[in-house]
Amino acid sequence: MSKRFAGKVAVVTGAAGGIGRATVVRLAGEGAQVFATDLAGTALDEMAAAADGVVATAAHDVTSWDDWQRVMADAATRFGGIDCLVNNAGIEGPIGALDEAPDEAFDLVMAVNVKGVFLGIKAAIPAFRKRGAGAIVNLASVAGVIGEPAIGPYVATKHAVIGLTKSVASGYGAEGIRANAVCPAPIDTRMMSALETGLAPGEEASVRALLEQRIPLGRYGTADEVAAVIAFLASDDASYVSGSIYTVDGGMTNY
Ligand SMILES: NC(=O)c1ccc[n+]([C@@H]2O[C@H](COP(=O)([O-])OP(=O)(O)OC[C@H]3O[C@@H](n4cnc5c(N)ncnc54)[C@H](O)[C@@H]3O)[C@@H](O)[C@H]2O)c1
Repeated sequence: MSKRFAGKVAVVTGAAGGIGRATVVRLAGEGAQVFATDLAGTALDEMAAAADGVVATAAHDVTSWDDWQRVMADAATRFGGIDCLVNNAGIEGPIGALDEAPDEAFDLVMAVNVKGVFLGIKAAIPAFRKRGAGAIVNLASVAGVIGEPAIGPYVATKHAVIGLTKSVASGYGAEGIRANAVCPAPIDTRMMSALETGLAPGEEASVRALLEQRIPLGRYGTADEVAAVIAFLASDDASYVSGSIYTVDGGMTNY
């Protein structure tokens, strides 16, 4: 594997989850020093042991500004700063009709998926300025570019992530800071299993089959396939790519 990230430091949030873990492994495999973060109690250390380049792990709630400040301060002290931030942490939010979604569940998915990304951007910009450049990759979703009636609050958060991405790209490009969003279709992780169950308990296989019919490539994607695009966007191979919205969706959004 090429070493596109030799000498680079990357922070990956939600690193113990499906796509986060694949991203950590991919970036570390390409030579990055990866600072992997996730909520306390997740399988962070076990994940770090499987990926050689992981230099540190931290318990980190992305909705907490104090946590973001601690992570960035740690990165500065221990590794001299950061070059890439992958805002990956996310939750699916309430499943079902929009008019029945509990307010608290709406607030929570907004806090994790939108405020968490906003705080990450806010924490990373000063760190990137010290390096003279930086790259942010935000995890949006196909739900950031199309509507999905059964996950309306999630859809709202992922549209917001795209808005934040475009704002960073237009506002900070002059400082050498790039931002891009990745929009996966269904990917085989805990989140999709939870969505299948939430949509039709006991009928998960039917839900999956219906979703796969909407995907020209005829299958869910893998976390590794998403991580490959994240790695491209975070790398210098994408040095002229900013504000882009990359669907990784087997063609799903072309219907
Ligand atoms: N799996 C899919 O089909 C799919 C499709 C499109 C987009 N995405 C997006 O990709 C990202 C990763 O999803 P995944 O499928 O790997 O899900 P996952 O559930 O496997 O992983 C998500 C991770 O985020 C962490 N997390 C949740 N709340 C957090 C918080 N407050 N602070 C820090 N970490 C927190 C979880 O602990 C978990 O490890 C999410 O942003 C998701 O919306 C996933």
